Order: sequence, then C-alpha cells, then structure tokens
Amino acid sequence: MAEIRLEGVAHSYDGGKTYALNPISMTWEDGKAYALLGPSGCGKTTLLNIISGLLKPSEGKVFIDGKDVTDVITDDRNIAQVFQFPVLYDTMSVRKNLEFPLKNRKVPREKIAERVKEIAELLGIEDDLDSKPSKLRSDLQQIVSLGRGLVREDVSAILFDEPLTVIDQNFKWTLRNRLKRLHLATGVTVVYVTHDQTEALTFADEVLVMDKGSLVQAGTSESLFLEPQHEFVGYFIGSPGMNFLDVEASASELTHNGKPIGKAAKAGLNGRHRFGVRPEFLIPSSEAGMEFNVDRIEDRGVFKLIHLSKDDFKFIAKTEESYEAKVGGKATFSFDPKRAFVYDLNQKFVSTVSPSSQGGN
Ligand SMILES: Nc1ncnc2c1ncn2[C@@H]1O[C@H](COP(=O)(O)OP(=O)(O)OP(=O)(O)O)[C@@H](O)[C@H]1O
Ligand SMILES: [Mg+2]
Repeated sequence: MAEIRLEGVAHSYDGGKTYALNPISMTWEDGKAYALLGPSGCGKTTLLNIISGLLKPSEGKVFIDGKDVTDVITDDRNIAQVFQFPVLYDTMSVRKNLEFPLKNRKVPREKIAERVKEIAELLGIEDDLDSKPSKLRSDLQQIVSLGRGLVREDVSAILFDEPLTVIDQNFKWTLRNRLKRLHLATGVTVVYVTHDQTEALTFADEVLVMDKGSLVQAGTSESLFLEPQHEFVGYFIGSPGMNFLDVEASASELTHNGKPIGKAAKAGLNGRHRFGVRPEFLIPSSEAGMEFNVDRIEDRGVFKLIHLSKDDFKFIAKTEESYEAKVGGKATFSFDPKRAFVYDLNQKFVSTVSPSSQGGN
C-alpha cells in the first residue's frame, strides 16, 4: 500500500512548446479509490504513465511513501497498470499470462495456482484459462489483461486506464462492482481513469476532473455536483450540464443585456463574468423570477426537461414529473441562491448568486 505524491509534475511531448499536462501538485492517499475523469486528450494517460514510471515528467517530482521515485523504473515502483487495450502474450495460455507477473516475483507455486484461480473466478474467466488469448473475444481479452493487473497481491497501487471501454454495458456494471469490492477488500490505492462520469462517480471515493491538461477540481461526486469550482465541472458533470450565461457585474449586481439576473454574494464584483446554474436548481416559481418561453418539453418519465428561451439565450430546467407547462407558452423560474454561481473569465468559481428582487423580466 502506498501514498503517492506529485510535486509540480508537468509534461510536454514536444520539448516545452505545448504541455499535455500542466503542473499538478497533489497527494493520492493510501488505500483510497480515485477516479480520473476528463474528455479525450485531456492528459489522463499521460498522468497515469508518470505515476507508473512509463513516462518521466518533463518537470516535477513523484514520491511514493515519501521516497523520490522520479528516476526509478516501472519495475521497481511496485505499481500494477491495466491499459486501455489488452496487453497479453499470445504464445502463452490465459493461465500462463495470469501466472506471469507472479512468477516474475518468485511467488511460491501453490500460491500462484491459488491466486490465479481466485482472480479467474472474480472475473468470470475460469473456463478460458487454457485458451490462447487470440482465440478469445476482444472483451474477454481485455478482462484477462485486467486479471494480469490484479493478480499480484503485493502492489502498492493499481492504475486502471479505461479498462472497461471495450466491455459490453451489462457486464461492465458487474465488473465495476467486482473491482470496487476487490478494492474494499484489499485496501490498495486505486486510480481509475475514465471519461464516463457515471463510472467515475460510482467507483471512486474521490473524483479528479481534468480538462486540457489541468486538474480543475477534486472532490466527492456530491461536491462536484453541488459546488462546481470550475465551469468545466458544471458542464461535464451532470446530465444535462450546467446552464451558463454571460453577465456584467456592477457592484455585484449581475445583468445580461441590461436586464437583472441576480446578485453575487461577494461584495464589490465588477466587470464581465459568467453566471451558471444547473438544470436541477432552476425552480418553477409562481411569484418573482425570470419569465421564459417554453420551447420544448422532454418527458423522461421520472422528471421533465424544460427547454426555455429568453431574448438571446437558452436554459434547460429539470423539473419534477408533475410539473406542467405549455409548449409555446410562458413559464417563470427562479433559482436556488446556494446553487447558482458566478465564474470569472478563467472559468473559476467566484461566488454564489441570489435571484434579483426585481424579478429579472
Ligand atoms: N506519445 C505522445 N507523443 C506526443 N503527444 C502525445 C503522446 N501521447 C499523448 N500525446 C498528446 O498529449 C495529450 C494528452 O494525451 P493523453 O493520451 O494523456 O490523453 P487522455 O486523456 O488519456 O485521452 P484519451 O481519453 O483519448 O485516452 C493529447 O493532446 C495527446 O495528443
Ligand atoms: Mg488515455
């Protein structure tokens, strides 16, 4: 088990012209399950490879249990890594592939057999142990590859790089739960990379959201949903994502095209900003609020998505199933003052926002 600490770790693949990873300093606590969540190309694999030692960062240092391992090779870091695509030896049977990492570590033969059986059962591949990997379906090959990452018991951390991408939806759910159980049983530090928010939120104790090479927020699924510290978190987490609007602040009063939107809790706010509110926190109101045109209603069975427009902008509200509105008609919405935010032009959280008392029409 291990604590992994990054100190100013950054990476450029082109000698410093562009950075795939901007400086990150953080600690991955011993025994916790982390998800690294972000869109394609944001630097997830780059970060994982730096932790495992496949890649030496162009800047900064990596520490495992307080020891500087920046120049230590992968084999000596005691970290298991499962890649996005199967990495297997096709000259060996599935069993031999699973045995390999243990033989390398000189684990006693009886122990190897026992452990391989355990992992094969966990992953549901007991019947495939004597096959050659190339004879298996591609999703099974990935599961064997996953097994290779899980088979060692002495690792300090396991890094999963989107391990379930090629697995079908139903089995994915089962496998993720099994991985979660395994994590709880072994207490090994786990970093799980994905671009699927549901996968991240259900698997991890803590989710790290990345965008364009930067870590934009780390937190529980709840805090990412309720208190997005960066516009990207508002946009990327939640379905649909946050509504945004360009606003002008003048002594903390926010307006859009001269019409009042709300008042920022932070005093003395001036200049261009962005207002953001999640669809869940736009609240139907019979009194004060913003009046919108109702463009479309999506009835999702347990809730409704109300597509709204007003002047030059559009919002989506997520309401209870019982909410009634007429397409083509008007509807008034207010927002929860604890759950509406103003962001600066670097997309960073500045303050919460209360609805305007004037009503904002
Ligand atoms: N070996 C490499 N040489 C040059 N550029 C690279 C290399 N590997 C990655 N990059 C670039 O670095 C950036 C981050 O890539 P990375 O693979 O870390 O992203 P990712 O978040 O893992 O994406 P995905 O979800 O698609 O796997 C991208 O712009 C990518 O094109
Ligand atoms: Mg990747």
